[in-house]
Amino acid sequence: MTNKGSGMSEDIDRLAKELQAAVIEDAGEIYSKKALRAMMEPENMGEMEAADADALTKGICGDRMRIYLKIENDRIERAAFLSDGCGTSIACGSMATRLATGKTVREAMGISPAEILDGLDGLPDSHIHCSILASITLQKAIAQYLLKKEGMGEDARI
Ligand code: FES
Repeated sequence: MTNKGSGMSEDIDRLAKELQAAVIEDAGEIYSKKALRAMMEPENMGEMEAADADALTKGICGDRMRIYLKIENDRIERAAFLSDGCGTSIACGSMATRLATGKTVREAMGISPAEILDGLDGLPDSHIHCSILASITLQKAIAQYLLKKEGMGEDARI
């Protein structure tokens, strides 16, 4: 007795793997290896409980990013992000939070879109705005922390 059902599911698995490989090969012509890795295996993605500061930004494309910071003695101990945007926004959130982790608040104020782009070995022109979204969100979260620290209240929002 043959097991046609099992053969079909193996065919579907093989087809899915072939399609995935083709998509990655195409993407490899557009994105750097670093950018692809940050898209497929992002660091610091997820919600953060009891963050010391967080900020949400809606980008010019309509996608949103939230960045959370855990800060001890003015040093960013942990940074995390969420995004409902494209793979590139995920790569930029990953790189922005990676660059911020371990830096003092003052150092992290210098994390620009250009630095995020450099960390990813560049992005296509059509997705440069994703790095701006990540940078602005990080700077807003830092500003949020500074407002709280200066006693401007939990409700002070940027
Ligand atoms: Fe909107 Fe990347 S953040 S296209």
